[in-house]
Amino acid sequence: MAQAVIGVIGGSGLYEIEGLSDVKQVEIDTPFGKPSDALITGVLDGVKMVFLPRHGRGHRLLPSEVPYRANIHAMKQLGVERIISVSAVGSMREEIVPGHIVIPDQFFDRTQGKRASTFFGEGVVGHVQFADPVCGDLSAILAQAATEVGATVHQGGTYICIEGPNFSTRAESNIYRSWGVDIIGMTNLPEARLAREAEICYATVALATDYDCWFEGHDDVSVEAVLATIKQNVATARNIIKAAAGLAAATRPCACESALQYAIMTDCTQLPD
Ligand code: ADE
Repeated sequence: MAQAVIGVIGGSGLYEIEGLSDVKQVEIDTPFGKPSDALITGVLDGVKMVFLPRHGRGHRLLPSEVPYRANIHAMKQLGVERIISVSAVGSMREEIVPGHIVIPDQFFDRTQGKRASTFFGEGVVGHVQFADPVCGDLSAILAQAATEVGATVHQGGTYICIEGPNFSTRAESNIYRSWGVDIIGMTNLPEARLAREAEICYATVALATDYDCWFEGHDDVSVEAVLATIKQNVATARNIIKAAAGLAAATRPCACESALQYAIMTDCTQLPD
């Protein structure tokens, strides 16, 4: 099997990947407009990589403004088969200490309908399976890579995706905790949905940066606190990507590449006999 091309979507604080050779900056247009920024292609330890900073260089796009469809479409155009998403999140559990890494396996949607997060519509109706919203194989590779580079890793967990851009109220934060969520962020769910529709594997490396605002005796989340934790841990994120890339590229034993097989209802010719 040819090696898979690995895409990396970098969140706050991760605006490039180190150690790439044969680096090219690629401007791409898509039917959904321009992606967040130019994409960077290159080779990392023999693996073809494509990098995109989610919020654009200089961090200019709000979570609601990120052109999610264009971003995933651009990755697909460049042949990306597996996406590693790197994101800063708040921790909703005492044991997930700021600086720890979480590899979530579930999402809960608290966005407010402002984001285009399907490629379907306009005459084509499809419904992809999304019970398990991330690629289990890629997630396991990321957990292994994070352990190898010395991070404290929590494998599995529910990521609640809020609209932002404000952080949550204390009442919201406590209610989310009572719902059983483990981490909170603003961006990953539309990406996971679109990646599934595009038959691209998707998994998240979430860096816990704060305890949101539920934990008495700890500071409420602030941009300052988020950035300080990111600064201390950006090397870890880079090391995880480096350790994961080769493993992720070598195999693709999951079903992500055939997610559309029984998903399209329009002019359906796939009905069982
Ligand atoms: N990103 C980092 N910390 C966060 C928090 N507490 N809420 C939402 N997004 C975040």
